[in-house]
Amino acid sequence: MNLLVIGSGGREHAICYKLRQSSRVNELFCLPGNAGTKKIAKNINQDISNFEEIYKIVKQNKVDIVIIGPEEPLVNGITDFLKEKSVRVLGPSKFAAQLEGSKAFMKNLCKKNNIPTADFGVFDEFDVASNFIQKSKIPIVVKADGLAAGKGVLICNSKEEAIIETKKILNGKFKSSKKVVLEEFLEGEELSYFVLVDKNSYSFFGSAQDHKKVGEGDTGLNTGGMGAYSPAKNLTEDLDSKIKNKIIEPTLKAMKNLGYPYTGFLYAGLMIKNGEPYLIEYNIRMGDPECQVLMMKLKTDLLSIIEATTNNNLSKLKIEWDNKKCITIVLCARGYPGEYVKDKEIKNLSKIHLDKNNQIFHAGTYEIDGKIFSKGGRVLNITSSSNDLREARNSSLSNLKKIDWDSGFFRKDIGWKAIKKK
Ligand code: AMP
Ligand code: GLY
Repeated sequence: MNLLVIGSGGREHAICYKLRQSSRVNELFCLPGNAGTKKIAKNINQDISNFEEIYKIVKQNKVDIVIIGPEEPLVNGITDFLKEKSVRVLGPSKFAAQLEGSKAFMKNLCKKNNIPTADFGVFDEFDVASNFIQKSKIPIVVKADGLAAGKGVLICNSKEEAIIETKKILNGKFKSSKKVVLEEFLEGEELSYFVLVDKNSYSFFGSAQDHKKVGEGDTGLNTGGMGAYSPAKNLTEDLDSKIKNKIIEPTLKAMKNLGYPYTGFLYAGLMIKNGEPYLIEYNIRMGDPECQVLMMKLKTDLLSIIEATTNNNLSKLKIEWDNKKCITIVLCARGYPGEYVKDKEIKNLSKIHLDKNNQIFHAGTYEIDGKIFSKGGRVLNITSSSNDLREARNSSLSNLKKIDWDSGFFRKDIGWKAIKKK
């Protein structure tokens, strides 16, 4: 089979890595890809929002299935566009993609279906929003309704700050958002929970904990994710069934009732408070960097899983996972998540021994004449697995030491909640 993976992050490199292990994958394309995908797939330099060109590439290369990595093309309707042309796609429809594309849509769906989530209000008028803030408790969470590349959420510790941020959003700070969502602050521990969904059923697709803050001890600005480990330490059997019964199943049923069954990866960002799950957000795709650790742990052939999903046969397939613990540490460019350095050569990557327990997934990299350069904020994902999470982290840290790149930084404490201090 010929496959096309859309995207250029660590997530897409990890998906390509796993697909390459399948003997039934013939041609593998990544659009636009990075220096890591270039080694195992054919990179195609094209804009991921140019659906017409993507369709031409699918036809020219006889692509059998297209796998969409990032949210933006999904929210903009790539699945509907390609499916209308009879192309097989893994990813939700434009309507279903609103679960991530519009926080107001997601919150209203939760409210109608009694899905536990933080109390909230959705506003498009400043005065009404301001009144709501005056009556709310502090901290209050201010969110842009639409996609905002991870920058649309602010936890405000004063009413004044919340009012200023609300005004910015309603004045068009993010093109994608005309509305603001104001939310109760939930205290607890976060958990990333994944399922894969077809029209008839769904399967659990792993758990992880991400580390969104840039600084050690979870301090500083929010990022796209500085590292993750799997399985999440706080996912007990009891919690797992609560998540399925109270959050995942009512959501999938609600989407069916709306006439738009959800299909593809669904990632629930949860807050666990006193043993109870609350939905913070849905993502309509795999997490990045969570995907990197899950692809290392996945035992079942990924192509078979994707085929079963796109054929709506998922219930017939048992998805198996390695019991090992897996961790990924993100090596970022200095300055991230603000302005960061670019186009700096990264040396010594070839000195790192890669095997089934040690991988480097590229994100913001490109290659010229065999040399690797940085171009993104998140640059490399140093990923290791072991029976013990601390050992896995030590392997990633020792691999990081071998990399010669003085323009980067990373968190040494990924997994700290699960790795007890000695
Ligand atoms: P989101 O983009 O919705 O995932 O929000 C980014 C991050 O903000 C989440 O991962 C949480 O750490 C935090 N966050 C969002 N909403 C809330 C909330 N209602 N209470 C506490 N923390 C939140
Ligand atoms: N790791 C967070 C995300 O993928 O949105």
